Amino acid sequence: ACGGGEDTAPRSAAQGGIRLGFSQVGAESAWRLANTASIEHAATNASVQLDLRVADGKQDNQIAAIREFIAAKVDVIAFSPVVESGWDKVLQEAKDAGIPVIVTDRTVDTTDTSLFATVLGSDFTAEGRKAGEWLVEHFRDHKGPVQIVEIEGTTGSAPANQRRTGFADAIKADTDLKVIDSRDGNFTRAGGEQVMSGFLQEHSDIDVLFAHNDDAGLGAVKAIEAVGKRPGEDIKIITVDASRDGLSALAEGRLNYVIECNPLLGPQLMELVGKVKTGQSIPRRVVVDETTFDREAAKAVLPNRQY
Ligand code: AHR
Repeated sequence: ACGGGEDTAPRSAAQGGIRLGFSQVGAESAWRLANTASIEHAATNASVQLDLRVADGKQDNQIAAIREFIAAKVDVIAFSPVVESGWDKVLQEAKDAGIPVIVTDRTVDTTDTSLFATVLGSDFTAEGRKAGEWLVEHFRDHKGPVQIVEIEGTTGSAPANQRRTGFADAIKADTDLKVIDSRDGNFTRAGGEQVMSGFLQEHSDIDVLFAHNDDAGLGAVKAIEAVGKRPGEDIKIITVDASRDGLSALAEGRLNYVIECNPLLGPQLMELVGKVKTGQSIPRRVVVDETTFDREAAKAVLPNRQY
């Protein structure tokens, strides 16, 4: 249901009347806005009563929201954890209150997997690996070192940790490919622009940028143009998400390759919420299908892109 970025997962009547508390990370990126809209829309379609709290990128806000959901005795709690660690205590409180928890989008790092019912989201390691594999292929006939900079996502977040690992793993195949610098751009345009400006001041010889999401990559494009270089030409750029703006920049040749990360998780989330509430068995992990885009593929999908 998700490979083409379409919001088409089947609906079921089973969710009607369920009270769902959902704690969202924030509003840092186009991806996040599309994710929130997908969840709101799917809740309405499924007649789920959604209590949505947006945490402004702060774990404390998310913990406070989850505690409020517990106090309000919602039927199900779902959340997208801003960072991986530090959730055990509040998840134990939800468990003690008998409220099932669904982790969505980003994963949590906990030794007690009984603290949540399932994890719905992307395989971030695979996304990073796809970025690295494209690079290895692109520079196959190149001689000499290739200098790479990396604009990472929010420090401690699952997508930052796992995309970095997947990418590093894939580029090991070619010892000429070297990450010379790497910094946190917080998944935002402003962050990406600022980090890239710093990289450009410190390194005269950057060949490649791997940005952990489109927004950071598009901020970096601005910084590259500001110093009179051509993004996509002088510096090859790979990003993740495949938002409309990311794919437009790819179609124009400012980006070179984009890995899809699908935010349209709402329908699948409502399906899982309905099943958890009625005690049906669900898989421990639900991974979203995703693809990759080069320039031609971006041009082909852009007219119908939903996010
Ligand atoms: O967790 C998914 C990531 O979070 C997306 O790749 C990024 O754009 C968002 O902010």
